[in-house]
Amino acid sequence: MVLDVDTGLDDACALLLAARHPGLDLKAVTCAGGNVGIDDVVRNTLTVLDAAGRPDVPVARGAAVPLIQPVRPARHVHGEDGLGDLDWPRSTRPTDPRHAVELLRDVLRDAAATGELVTLVPLAPMTNVALLLRTYPEAAAGLREIVFMGGSAGIGNATASAEFNIWSDPEAAAIVLAAANQLGVAVTMYGLDVFYDVVVTLEQARKLGGSPSAELARKLIEKRSERYQSDGGSIGDGGAVCAVIDPSGLTTEPHPVRVELSGGWSRGRTIVDTRTASDQANDVQGPAPVIQVATAVDAERYAELWLTTVS
Ligand code: BDR
Ligand code: CA
Repeated sequence: MVLDVDTGLDDACALLLAARHPGLDLKAVTCAGGNVGIDDVVRNTLTVLDAAGRPDVPVARGAAVPLIQPVRPARHVHGEDGLGDLDWPRSTRPTDPRHAVELLRDVLRDAAATGELVTLVPLAPMTNVALLLRTYPEAAAGLREIVFMGGSAGIGNATASAEFNIWSDPEAAAIVLAAANQLGVAVTMYGLDVFYDVVVTLEQARKLGGSPSAELARKLIEKRSERYQSDGGSIGDGGAVCAVIDPSGLTTEPHPVRVELSGGWSRGRTIVDTRTASDQANDVQGPAPVIQVATAVDAERYAELWLTTVS
């Protein structure tokens, strides 16, 4: 697996899980500006991997800003530093010298050569992934699939229409969907329709402790619960990693999906076409990329998977 992140409280939940799960081989983590600026994203990512006991995982700095619009951070969700402004020592470890796109290219080239294909899990605005597929389309030969957090068949969160990651860089998302379709890469959208469902209760979180990973995990859930003023916190992006580890816990449906790129109120919306096959075939705008859209999740199972792995 390779994660592309904008860490972020819930990216941190995903990182802890991916770094510690014995069935996963986390090859690299690449960073993009999103929830906070790229410097904070990189520092947070290194910090979480240190807590997970995985300083061996290469981390590369990637796109600081979306393709054509400024970065618009979500500090109201993730805190000033993106990691909830926790009382937690920050990593000073250096990053991999390569740009995120170059690191992705190299990992995928090795994967294609060895036949050990990689699942790419973008949890951020997809700027790095779009640049990769446009610059090095041959890298797709190293991909097993892309499972991204982003989009929604229903309502948005950044706006009434659009989910934050897609709203942050709609052009990048449109490029990734089109390129994956053209290059024959399977794509799953882990969107808002399931994103908030996998919740760890405060009671469960307060039992976590005894290792830096478990301590950090507890603090992350406490912050998420504080943010949403609820009795627990969603592991958010962490659910997309659960879906790779345990795909049978996720229900998906194949649908054509387009990204709205116009500048109006619906910019960044993922338009999920749930019409009949014949209506889709007669669409006057032609075919759209078909991807698997997550519609339901076994939330308790995924919460348990996360809890046992991070502790
Ligand atoms: C997504 O946006 C960010 O706030 C989260 O990290 C997640 O990736 C949810 O819309
Ligand atoms: Ca994220």
